[in-house]
Amino acid sequence: MDRPLLNRRLDGLGNTIFAEMSALATATGAINLGQGFPDTDGPAEISEAAVRAIREGRGNQYPPGPGIPELRAAIAEHQQRFYGLSYDPDGEVLVTAGATEAIAAAMLALLEPGDEVIAFEPFYDSYAACIAMAGATRVPLTLRAPDFRPDLDALRAAVTPRTRLLLLNSPHNPTGMVLTPDELVAIAELACERDLLVVTDEVYEHLVFEGAHHPIAGLPGMRERTVSISSAGKTFSFTGWKVGWVTATAALVAAVRTAKQYLTYVSAGPFQYAIAEALRLPDSYFADFRADLTRKRGLLADGLRIAGFQVYDPQGTYFITTDIAPFGEKDAYAFCRALPERCGVVAVPNSVFYDDPDAGRSQVRFTFCKRTEVLEAAVKGLTEGLADLRKR
Ligand SMILES: Cc1ncc(COP(=O)(O)O)c(C=O)c1O
Repeated sequence: MDRPLLNRRLDGLGNTIFAEMSALATATGAINLGQGFPDTDGPAEISEAAVRAIREGRGNQYPPGPGIPELRAAIAEHQQRFYGLSYDPDGEVLVTAGATEAIAAAMLALLEPGDEVIAFEPFYDSYAACIAMAGATRVPLTLRAPDFRPDLDALRAAVTPRTRLLLLNSPHNPTGMVLTPDELVAIAELACERDLLVVTDEVYEHLVFEGAHHPIAGLPGMRERTVSISSAGKTFSFTGWKVGWVTATAALVAAVRTAKQYLTYVSAGPFQYAIAEALRLPDSYFADFRADLTRKRGLLADGLRIAGFQVYDPQGTYFITTDIAPFGEKDAYAFCRALPERCGVVAVPNSVFYDDPDAGRSQVRFTFCKRTEVLEAAVKGLTEGLADLRKR
């Protein structure tokens, strides 16, 4: 067969970097600070709620397409409780198979082939794939070290008559940048002026260490043009459950649901009941979670500095982006491939999150959503394993 099996839209997207680096962690027994999943499960009472739902036969058969009413109500309550945003659980909330499906469904539903999508790079790798599957064109705007602030003039200049939507992510993976209220206002004004849709990935909404999370959907003129996406995985440390959601106007939810129903139709029945309970946990859960990750951020950032990295302190998420230039190294991919052998640690090269690989060529991302002793062991491995490079 002469014709390539993989269609042209997906050409070059290959395996995700997480699969490659997690496989390397398994093969070498190295500590995996590459992929962002916690090594302790979320609250025991929430696991118990899932077990109870299975035992009681709740959600074991196809749940309703938009999600079970209890979870949709809990999502609407959460948006009201934390941000004062009001959404009707019947029609303005959609439960998805993680944020990943929400992003895919939003792109497939809202884009025509040839539309342009502006996104800040480095971007979470599913964005490029989903935009490509929709036949649209991504227009990257590069966030640059050391602070990774968006260039709002460049954003304005990047909008063309073909621009359909802005794809935002704040708190931002991998850089940890959190959009400020002023930046959000400027982006919102541009979206309104140029009549653009905004799809905003807010899965790290409860992991902001400096400043606060402000959903762009709350700004004037934005409710009717914003698809807000979040997920239980990061907030409740159940990344394997894949419970995500969309909040938007009924018209936008209806559009996204049209694509979503032919992707998974529904998912995670019993887990939906458990996450409905999780979203109603008291404020102390969310505060303790953030405090724990704040401490771990400090531990890993200090350790990485001692090991010799240039560290860009994140304002949010559970990732730290570093630069390997102080070691006299330039190629983060090669550096990460050697890291398990050299230090017993797996990390991810940020270059894979850029369209312009030069922009992030020497950046490496580490996650700190691991147990304290694991982070300490990783820091020790890095400090010892990189001693020679430090001396150069
Ligand atoms: C920015 C961002 N969006 C979405 C996701 C995926 O979320 P989910 O596991 O809910 O599909 C991740 C996971 O790492 C992420 O970092």
